[in-house]
Amino acid sequence: LLNAIEMAPRDPILGITEAFNADKNPNKINLGVGVYNDDNGKLPLLECVRKAEVLLAEKLSPRGYLPIDGLAAYDKAVQELVFGADSAVVKEKRAVTAQAIGGTGALKLGADFLKRFAPNAQVWISDPSWENHRALFESAGFVVNNYPYYDAATRGVNFSGMLDTLNSIPSGSIVLLHACCHNPTGADLTDAQWAQVIEVVLKRGLIPFLDMAYQGFGDGIESDGKVVRQFAEAGGPVFVSNSFSKSFSLYGERVGALSIVAVSAEEAARVLSQLKRVIRTNYSNPPIHGGQVVATALATPELRALWEQELADMRVRIRDMRQAFVQKLKEQAPAHNFDFVIQQRGMFSYSGLTKEQVNRLRDEYSIYAIDTGRICVAALNTRNIDYVVGAIAKVI
Ligand code: LMR
Repeated sequence: LLNAIEMAPRDPILGITEAFNADKNPNKINLGVGVYNDDNGKLPLLECVRKAEVLLAEKLSPRGYLPIDGLAAYDKAVQELVFGADSAVVKEKRAVTAQAIGGTGALKLGADFLKRFAPNAQVWISDPSWENHRALFESAGFVVNNYPYYDAATRGVNFSGMLDTLNSIPSGSIVLLHACCHNPTGADLTDAQWAQVIEVVLKRGLIPFLDMAYQGFGDGIESDGKVVRQFAEAGGPVFVSNSFSKSFSLYGERVGALSIVAVSAEEAARVLSQLKRVIRTNYSNPPIHGGQVVATALATPELRALWEQELADMRVRIRDMRQAFVQKLKEQAPAHNFDFVIQQRGMFSYSGLTKEQVNRLRDEYSIYAIDTGRICVAALNTRNIDYVVGAIAKVI
């Protein structure tokens, strides 16, 4: 059996980190994976997390199994964060939320659930999308297609192409949308464009699946969550995966959630009962610690305020890096216009670097980016930016 197995290709994102870890160059920089580092190039432990952990350590509790759908306090806090505590969906108990193993785990739960109840539907993801979206839905058994999204000529969204496709795909298709901070391009839809997408999704009976892994990294927690709320208000079904890996800097704790909006509390109860079966056959029930930390931070007013401030600080630092990156490239590579990087939102920039240029950055400078030219702006800092800009100026 095993001797016939072929070597699998490296993961396009996490495989870059493997190569980075093996690099002995002390100047190496990882602009591949979507991880926020502070201005010292260090992964931060947020103060709100540290304080929540101290609170939890003061009343250490035994570790029984959590319910299949996770910690109730976590699910409640997430639901209120995602949809709004005063929203109709929450008040009318039309949304179900289950703790998941990170945003990826939430996507997988949603994919497995949909495969069970919409087995013949096909999935549509943006072109391009997060590298794992296609693989994840395909591994759940779906045919995965692309809708047009990024327009390399304008460095923005090919909105008419996107809308035309959404208008022509079969009703009942599953449409994966990035709620904010599009990964990998950083190019988001405007409010007016979102309104049109919601209208088409409703009119055509498409199933929206909103992936929100970067809430708070675009324009703010409320503003980044707006689209999810608009979809939820427009009526079910709506699927939402969200993650606290980035916003709480809790990557390794794998804290995320899947929420499903139904049309009534009674429908929601049936949905939850089936979602629990999906979870049970995947990993039975989620781990406690990360969920407890997030639930404590979100529900304790002092920690909640601290979190919002720390998240805002991360967002502002990334924006500053975008400005500095563009300014420095203007000086070092005046023939090239990188102004578009300032308009992009979230952790990433679809930089326009070619695969050959990315390879040169890696081989000659130990600067690691994704083959598609995606770079993680959140890994730039005042110490490494000159080295990165100097290298980019050389390879372009
Ligand atoms: C990324 O896009 O780099 C992150 O979401 C990390 C991952 O799991 O791919």
